Amino acid sequence: MPESIFTTMSGLANEHNAINLSQGFPNFKTSTVLQNLVSKAMLEGHNQYAHMRGDLELRTVIAQKIKTLYQSTYNPENEITITAGATEALFNAITCFIHKNDEVIIFKPAFDSYEPVVKLSGGVPVFIQLHYPNYKVNWQEVASKITSKTKMIILNTPLNPTGTLFEDQDMLALQNLIKNTNIIVLSDEVYEHMTFDGNIHQSACKYPILKAQSFVIASFGKTFHNTGWKIGYCAAPKPLMDEFVKVHEFNVYSINTPYQKAFATFIKDSNNYNYLPTFYQNKRDLFLNGIKDAKFSYIPSKGTYFQLLKYDNITQENDVDFAKRLVIEFKIATIPISVFNVNHLDEKVLRFCFAKTDETIIKATEILCKIQ
Ligand SMILES: Cc1ncc(COP(=O)(O)O)c(C=O)c1O
Repeated sequence: MPESIFTTMSGLANEHNAINLSQGFPNFKTSTVLQNLVSKAMLEGHNQYAHMRGDLELRTVIAQKIKTLYQSTYNPENEITITAGATEALFNAITCFIHKNDEVIIFKPAFDSYEPVVKLSGGVPVFIQLHYPNYKVNWQEVASKITSKTKMIILNTPLNPTGTLFEDQDMLALQNLIKNTNIIVLSDEVYEHMTFDGNIHQSACKYPILKAQSFVIASFGKTFHNTGWKIGYCAAPKPLMDEFVKVHEFNVYSINTPYQKAFATFIKDSNNYNYLPTFYQNKRDLFLNGIKDAKFSYIPSKGTYFQLLKYDNITQENDVDFAKRLVIEFKIATIPISVFNVNHLDEKVLRFCFAKTDETIIKATEILCKIQ
């Protein structure tokens, strides 16, 4: 595999002292209350191996949160596992089911960790390219790609990098497609708390038939502004989770204990996440207001903490070249979308991460307005 675009763009951003809106992480602090809870747990002596599946109190709190948000029930004893970020959960879910020549449907543009893990497992990625600006799925096309070898469909909603959502009718169409098949759905929902303008997140666990065949994956790093802590979880019905933990057990065994204790207390209070849609919508709006006179065109992001901007009014350069030039000449780092597309399809679109302080967002928009 070549070096990832995140490594390239963040490296360039550091070298040129550029504002880094490329990689998806916040540049503001995680909660002090949460940090104090971690210290407290350490000082109280919670420093040895946690339960292989995760701290039971945390799993119970997660099950309650899912029940409240999505009216869906998981048994914390054997249907939820705490993982080393969503990344480990994705790895486990793919490797425990995908074997040689199994086909896995992936919607593009896609987060870059799915395809390598499918290939590592001997599987064959089958891509469906979605298009700017709405990135709508044509479910007939999906149906036409299903063969006797199709083992898994990976979806990501809200979708990184596009900032779009799978709507109720998408989830119903997917449910209809996999009903009475052995196809497993891997639903990457790490941006579940970032939806805007009244749009709501449609978790796979809200749809009973879909839920029975789905792994649902979440990331505390994304939700609680601490991507460096690398904690997430996976929820799935027992028959799927029984397989998942076989990989988890011999991959990392268990996740660090004091952080789990801290999250168990912190997540009990829904105020610690209910503010997120408004918080991020305000950041998106600050960014979009700041660039209203710029030459980029866009559709406001509906979810995630990313905004796409199309630049074909400015230049016809290839998106990777343009992104590099923006770092070197204008000191702003972004991600070119072609790297996530089939055959590096270039629709002249860049991704900007707005999980940044208001000061950084304002500085970035001032630069973007100067690009002619
Ligand atoms: C769609 C998607 N899935 C998974 C991850 C990984 O999450 P984590 O940092 O919890 O491993 C990311 C991180 O950028 C992501 O954007």
